[in-house]
Amino acid sequence: MATRTRLVHRCSDCGGTAPRWSGRCPACGEWNTLVEEAERALPAAGPAAGEGGARPVRVADVEMAEWRTRPTGVEELDRVLGGGLVPGSVTLVGGEPGIGKSTLLLQAAASMAATGARCLLVSAEESGQQVRLRAERMGAVGAELWLVAETSLPAVVAAVDEVKPDVLVVDSIQTVFDPDVGSAPGSVSQVRECAARLVALAKARGLATVLVGHVTKEGTLAGPRVLEHVVDTVLSFEGERHHSLRLLRAVKHRFGATGELGLFEMAGTGLVGVPDAGALFLADRRAGVPGSVVVPAMEGQRPLLVEVQGLISPTDLPMPRRSAQGLDGGRLALVLAVLAERAGMTFGKADVYASAVGGVRVTEPAADLPVALALASARTGVPLPPDLVACGEVGLGGELRQVASPGRRLAEAGRLGFRRAMVPPSAPEVAAGLLILRPATLAEALDLLGMPAASRQ
Ligand code: TYD
Ligand code: MG
Repeated sequence: MATRTRLVHRCSDCGGTAPRWSGRCPACGEWNTLVEEAERALPAAGPAAGEGGARPVRVADVEMAEWRTRPTGVEELDRVLGGGLVPGSVTLVGGEPGIGKSTLLLQAAASMAATGARCLLVSAEESGQQVRLRAERMGAVGAELWLVAETSLPAVVAAVDEVKPDVLVVDSIQTVFDPDVGSAPGSVSQVRECAARLVALAKARGLATVLVGHVTKEGTLAGPRVLEHVVDTVLSFEGERHHSLRLLRAVKHRFGATGELGLFEMAGTGLVGVPDAGALFLADRRAGVPGSVVVPAMEGQRPLLVEVQGLISPTDLPMPRRSAQGLDGGRLALVLAVLAERAGMTFGKADVYASAVGGVRVTEPAADLPVALALASARTGVPLPPDLVACGEVGLGGELRQVASPGRRLAEAGRLGFRRAMVPPSAPEVAAGLLILRPATLAEALDLLGMPAASRQ
């Protein structure tokens, strides 16, 4: 078949195309993302229609392929995957450069290899020696762990034919390229085309495949946001460069829930799982300082206790600053408005800072009440009880509203030694050895904590 090549302008963000260059992608509206690329005429996607195509059947009659997951042996990864990797599935692990993707997958591959699964690592970024050195350091060298340092897709496929692995790891999808595709390695068509072939390979051989993808500063997978549709599972590996903590989440998962959070710490010998994370973010807490309270937050099914801090600082700026670190900026604005209108507490000519401490993000509405309490405490100088946790959504009427899983949150707070909890009135009874405070409104909550109306002016 003759390959016809034509030039297109492809958006490096959404993958949409335009016949001619323009400053803005017509598909997603992003600026400066269109790049000229040679596009090969692609074969029609999906199974051919008509003769031999799929026939409708009753769902009850569909044969169930067993989703026998293969545990990776890295507990926190298995938690996020809901057990492990499914044969024939493709998992994309995204994260910023240097966050620890290669380390995580080397550890996973090594521990699967140790249980007899044959694992082939395609290292398209690092040399064989580099991988060996890292594996030695982590004690991850085993007989069934295979390596090929290759960037060309046909060579990768040949290596799969030769080694016949159970698990394939491609590090990274942005550096493998198919010489048959006219555009440069790393371009959107290359990444898409290579991923599509690897997906086909995975399905055809029942090969559990993991693709590593680098993510840009803005948090999108560089170019291959389009990849999210072709793979079965998308994991996002996050963390702050300055903290050793790493968070792993499932953004999309065809074989299970997406709410689970995996926690690791980057240590000298690779990533170490943090199974008991409840108090991880409380280590440096100073009790008795105004503007601090602890929220029992939920990350997936795991309760995490996180300190929320507030600080008010007078300013001469015409537009005082409103800063939310690790919290939702929109919810901070809402909480400030409700404090002003429903609890008589204004912040007029002052900068307002609110932050979730420890490099974690708490964006759920349950953080509304603790944010309000921390700010009110900072504003009045009244410290909150050190053994208090608080959670609750704040409504525009000033009322406190229900949050998900109150029982699990409070049980964890009780386990970690907290003795008082402020929750919305509708929260069910829980016996966690805690004294439960149930104010109906934000104003009532402030009254209960020693910040009566007179002190809020
Ligand atoms: P890496 O897995 O190469 O990141 P990615 O593949 O996401 O780009 O890990 C990068 C960082 O992790 C690197 O800066 C060094 C650090 N690191 C450790 O601290 N301990 C270790 O045992 C290893 C292997 C890496
Ligand atoms: Mg890497």
